[in-house]
Amino acid sequence: MIDRKMGVAVLGTGWVAGEHIKAFQKNPHTEVVAILSRDRARAEAVAGQHGLTRCFAATDLDEILQREEVDIVTICTPHHLHAPQGIAAASAGKHICVEKPIALNYRDLLALDSAIAQARVKSVVSFVLRWNPLFKTIKAMLADGLLGQLYYAGVDYLSGIGDWYTGYAWMRRKEYGGSNLLSAGCHAVDAARWFVQSRVTEVFAMANTSARNRLGYDYDTNSVTLMRFASGVLGKIGCSIESAHPYFFNILLQGDEGSVRNNEVFSKRWPGQTSWAAIPTILPDTAEVSHHPFVDQMAHLVDCIRHDTESHCSVRDAVETHRICLASERSAGSGQPVDPWGELDET
Ligand SMILES: NC(=O)c1ccc[n+]([C@@H]2O[C@H](COP(=O)([O-])OP(=O)(O)OC[C@H]3O[C@@H](n4cnc5c(N)ncnc54)[C@H](OP(=O)(O)O)[C@@H]3O)[C@@H](O)[C@H]2O)c1
Repeated sequence: MIDRKMGVAVLGTGWVAGEHIKAFQKNPHTEVVAILSRDRARAEAVAGQHGLTRCFAATDLDEILQREEVDIVTICTPHHLHAPQGIAAASAGKHICVEKPIALNYRDLLALDSAIAQARVKSVVSFVLRWNPLFKTIKAMLADGLLGQLYYAGVDYLSGIGDWYTGYAWMRRKEYGGSNLLSAGCHAVDAARWFVQSRVTEVFAMANTSARNRLGYDYDTNSVTLMRFASGVLGKIGCSIESAHPYFFNILLQGDEGSVRNNEVFSKRWPGQTSWAAIPTILPDTAEVSHHPFVDQMAHLVDCIRHDTESHCSVRDAVETHRICLASERSAGSGQPVDPWGELDET
């Protein structure tokens, strides 16, 4: 175990980077020691905003990876940089936290996974909703058998990602955004997997963009993805990144003993229950990053490093979520069901 505070390097200075910095500052075992930006002055300015007095401002990732005081690299850059930066960091022996999506194609996805396995470093992917209080409550209800055996999991990610978003200019281009699921709806895919706890064996999807495409994306902004889990559960993911209504994350889980719809539950295990019971809790009801439980996510990464345990939310685990996202896009293009574990497209 490391007997000093672990040094964290933050890659990127945008919207989510600030929340990563704050989360590591709140952890008693970590200290932010480096920030990477394309502009050194910007890295220095961000360090200053967060009161980081011993923070190295870098413009080159190698400058960061060579520094011994850097133990963890947290990747907050646009999507297309996640895999190459993650591979470089893992190969330099650094533990990594990587924002979603972790890759935009199969080749990068598998390369990142194998670089981490080879380097034997710890990884946590920012599927931050796994630490959301409603998610924790639903997991506890499932563990207690309140829903019996699940047979359906539906999760929707519905947002209008327009010019309010700092990353809008790059994310609406396919080269950098990938797809509506990779950009955003992967949170919903990951949620369904997290609740069902079974491998997805078949994916079928359709996608479109509204006729006027007011937000100007150069890839489809909406999709419906059907999934068959090995356990027999059926899943459905609705995703829109051009929604004309406020952000909405929707969960419906049905089992043979009960159901959960967002923070409401009905269970036959509670004799006498006549209608849905609402659980007061914190819902995943905003895309605002300051609302996301990054403090808990980073505490989990630190625990994994300190106690030499693998995360439930590692890159290895996230490979399956990304396989489903990539299979969905391929299915929407071909009109055919796709086995996410089948032959991979190397492009
Ligand atoms: N888990 C979540 O809930 C969540 C929430 C929000 C975002 N994210 C993910 O986090 C990542 C970053 O998102 P963000 O919202 O922070 O985006 P952003 O505000 O655009 O920030 C990205 C940062 O990356 C750096 N960068 C390096 N190369 C770049 C390039 N070629 N083009 C643009 N920026 C570049 C920039 O810093 P410099 O200009 O200083 O180089 C920029 O500030 C995305 O992959 C996103 O999906 C996840």
